[in-house]
Amino acid sequence: MASISFLIVEGEPAVSKMMSMVIQSLGHQKPQVTSSGSEACHLTRTNAFDIVIADINAPGMDGISLMEDIIEEEPDPPDFIMTGYSTDYSYKRIIGGGAKAFIRKPVTTDEFNIKLVRFLNEKSLIEKNNSLQQEQANLNKRLSELIDVSHALTSELDYKKLFPLIIGKVTQIMSAERSSLYVIDWSKRELWTEVSEGVEQIRLPMDQGICGHVAVTGELVNVEDAWDLPYFNRTFDQKNKFRTRSVLCIPITNKTGKKIGVLQIINKKNYPRFTREDELFLKGLASQVAISLENSFLHEEIKLSFDSSITTLSAIVDARHPFTAGHSERVTQYALMIAREMKLTKKEMEILKYSALLHDIGKIGIRDKVLLKDGRFTDEDREEMNSHTVKTKSILDKFHFPNKLTEVPGIAAHHHEKVNGEGYPDGLTGDEMHLGSKILAVADVFDALTSRRDYPKYDSEEIMSCEPMPLDRVISILKKDSGSHFDPEVAQAFLNCLPRALLYYRGGHFPSIYVDETIQRLAPELI
Ligand SMILES: [Fe+2]
Ligand SMILES: [Fe+2]
Repeated sequence: MASISFLIVEGEPAVSKMMSMVIQSLGHQKPQVTSSGSEACHLTRTNAFDIVIADINAPGMDGISLMEDIIEEEPDPPDFIMTGYSTDYSYKRIIGGGAKAFIRKPVTTDEFNIKLVRFLNEKSLIEKNNSLQQEQANLNKRLSELIDVSHALTSELDYKKLFPLIIGKVTQIMSAERSSLYVIDWSKRELWTEVSEGVEQIRLPMDQGICGHVAVTGELVNVEDAWDLPYFNRTFDQKNKFRTRSVLCIPITNKTGKKIGVLQIINKKNYPRFTREDELFLKGLASQVAISLENSFLHEEIKLSFDSSITTLSAIVDARHPFTAGHSERVTQYALMIAREMKLTKKEMEILKYSALLHDIGKIGIRDKVLLKDGRFTDEDREEMNSHTVKTKSILDKFHFPNKLTEVPGIAAHHHEKVNGEGYPDGLTGDEMHLGSKILAVADVFDALTSRRDYPKYDSEEIMSCEPMPLDRVISILKKDSGSHFDPEVAQAFLNCLPRALLYYRGGHFPSIYVDETIQRLAPELI
């Protein structure tokens, strides 16, 4: 047992001497002794005693008043053992006042010894119990944090959001100054991170620095001062005026045992280094991080694969005719510009993007004789050409879209509807049309009018050239047909972002001579 500091408040010198001897015989330091209650009060306030043994009738200030004052006023009062002959004070008042024990006088050396040892044993047990309870509470807190973090990580599939989420949570839970999460790129033998808190993206050679060391060896590193490590790279510290001290760095392995990343935590706040408990906690967290990272990468791969399938399908349709190459891609860009202008949600924009890319997929089913016809359509040609919308719907209905994209076939198939109900294939009115279809209608017509065709364009009965229509005329058609063909709000939104749309394809699809005058007139600040 560690040495305990005592104060004895006792008017009888023989008794205080006996107590002092017993205390020292038990291996504790020599106690301070006073016969005065008021002096004891002063001593207790100015010294950190563990135990005060006070006579209830101490001169100057009786022991009970001394105890009550100290317990009331001191934030961390000592334990009080009261002694006394008197029957004036009830046991209830002594214990009720806060005393941990009462030793009735007269007391022999042996009796005092036994009673004190019993008291000290009980005190030690209580302290151990409190310490265990505290440890258990800390453990429960960490487990609860681990569950919270695990839940947060499993709900995030976008790895670009996952990185800052992991780093933020780990830094906070581990009471560290900063954290980094690196993924191992085995093919390039590099470590990369999407984001390291407060710092731009970093790619490191795999065999450098603490993270590199952990990635290569698979060993955990827990040091008080990183600068003591021969493989620590001080460049970052020197460049950023940062001082890396304590570091805890562990490998992240997947369920097959393959190392996929490294998690590094730097500078434990208020402590010289990370503890064994921190190591265990981080190891628990690392397995969850591994699962979340792999899920997010898989999700990203599926998304890329889905996107590239859609883009390829869309390009196949456009490629059937040299003059329509890039049509679906441009319609998509215009549609998204309108969507941003109209402040559509991210989800609505995603639906619109796929609808735009696939809106003309039905042209796959139109014969070359009609699709590539150089000349005015007959009624039969027109009927066949117009059927591409119905074909779009039936092709896309067979396509398996994720739940959030199930509106795509309907929106795509109605891009030739008009708000006055005179469009095709279903003659929907503005109230019946999906906003996405209304947006596609504007974007589609705009691209058709501003792109070159190998057959003349027609405006009512007027035969026009094969060249892109002058922009003034396109703008006037968009305005004229607003409310009949186009939804007025959508048409206006497109006119608002027209200069940006022209600028986007300036020098590419649009020769600068075709767009510069209009951009200059509508938005001189852009050019
Ligand atoms: Fe179309
Ligand atoms: Fe189209």
